[in-house]
Amino acid sequence: MTDKLVIFDTTLRDGEQSPGASMTRDEKLRIARQLERLKVDVIEAGFAASSNGDFECIKAISEAIKDSTVCSLARASDKDISRAAEALKPANSGRLHLFLATSPLHMEKKLRMTPEQVLEQSRLAVRFARNLMADVEFSAEDAYRSDPDFLCRVFEAVIAEGASTVNVPDTVGYAVPELYGHFIKDLRERIPNSDKAIWSVHCHNDLGMAVANSLAGVKIGGARQVECTINGLGERAGNCSLEEVVMAVKTRRDYFDLELTIDTQQIVSTSRLVSQTTGFIVQPNKAVVGANAFAHASGIHQDGVLKARDTYEIMRAEDLGWSNNKIVLGKLSGRNAFKQRLLDLGVMPESESEVNNAFMKFKDLADRKSEIFDEDILALVSEESVAQSHEKYVFVSLAQHSETGEVPQATVVMTIGGQEVSGSSSGNGPVDASLKAIESNVNSGAEMVLYSVNAISGSTESQGEVTVRLQNKGRIVNGVGADPDIVVASAKAYLSALNKLESQADRVAAQV
Ligand code: KIV
Ligand code: ZN
Repeated sequence: MTDKLVIFDTTLRDGEQSPGASMTRDEKLRIARQLERLKVDVIEAGFAASSNGDFECIKAISEAIKDSTVCSLARASDKDISRAAEALKPANSGRLHLFLATSPLHMEKKLRMTPEQVLEQSRLAVRFARNLMADVEFSAEDAYRSDPDFLCRVFEAVIAEGASTVNVPDTVGYAVPELYGHFIKDLRERIPNSDKAIWSVHCHNDLGMAVANSLAGVKIGGARQVECTINGLGERAGNCSLEEVVMAVKTRRDYFDLELTIDTQQIVSTSRLVSQTTGFIVQPNKAVVGANAFAHASGIHQDGVLKARDTYEIMRAEDLGWSNNKIVLGKLSGRNAFKQRLLDLGVMPESESEVNNAFMKFKDLADRKSEIFDEDILALVSEESVAQSHEKYVFVSLAQHSETGEVPQATVVMTIGGQEVSGSSSGNGPVDASLKAIESNVNSGAEMVLYSVNAISGSTESQGEVTVRLQNKGRIVNGVGADPDIVVASAKAYLSALNKLESQADRVAAQV
């Protein structure tokens, strides 16, 4: 019988720790629903004890999700564990995920605990958690830099207390595939009760090896759960990328011989939704979900693929959801077809009024642009959800003038708390002038740490998608704006980032 590989998605917890990627409750709910459509086994929805906002998100996700297990992270303390269990109460299937560091460095410098204290606290925490929930996972933070003898004692103890999954994180991305695989294999061979738990891998990507390490943990080490994020989102260089692991295991079934429940046709829409929501664009040459992943530029390749696809392609683009990319709707299309696409993309708004407004925006866009892509739909739904959330700063209109040899000028009309204001400025270019025009009314004091423009689809008719990352008083946020006019897209992205800076309470990242 073929083994099953459990896919544990931590986009909403570890992924959210990327700079500026913190999300609102509604955004997290939308992503959780899409992860359920993708059929991930476990959704790590957040870290309940980290903030009231995160607690409420986990509770809302537990209420909404029926098919996937919903999980909350918790430190190995009774208080954290109780809070996590409380948030998970409405879940059909819930999991408590406890963690405590086991490396000498973390124990001594961070926790200021002796190994014996860490061992005892791990044991007691799992015992406490098992009284609240049947499904308990234990992670030995920084496991890969821990003493294997000590790890054996910790894992043996927590399995004896009833942990059904034990996780061996490479917290700092230090592992290399072969060594990591053998590290897990040795632990499993040395621990007498190791077969009573599912072994899990959790790899960070600091040396670009998170996917390779995770797969070695599976193949060599015998791990049967992979912790990963959509698009490899995560702080520093990110986490192990879900789509890459899934497609490696599917495409090389001859080698891995493992079952997955993932509906791969949902991969591309999930990737887009996460990228759009967090403002982290996907690099074009990213495996599986990058815009060029299936684009053949060289004549020899094109010729080969036309004659027989598998000359240069090892996966079918349509199996990942790429073929649905171009919407068959135009300006004459009806509301039902539009609603169906929202459903397919997993972004159906909750209220009819939001659907109506999004449909009106769709019609307006279809008048200006002959082909509408899924990214266009995602952009306008996210714009509508911003409008519905009664943000402080709302874009109204923009006029700008730029000419070779002249200093560009811009005037931006916007509302601040419902009051219409207008501001004008000159600048280095039309974008700079427009953002300065906004600042003439806002005076945010924010510093821009990233500005990027990306064409949503391949042509100049495409909408420009702009990401702006702002930093103010120690907080970092990403704003995203889309429009066929990139100056307007930039103004929208800037206002979106300013709004995120304003909505402090809603957006406390899980592990701040
Ligand atoms: O990287 C890590 O060690 C973690 C644990 C909390 C699982 O994210
Ligand atoms: Zn991590």
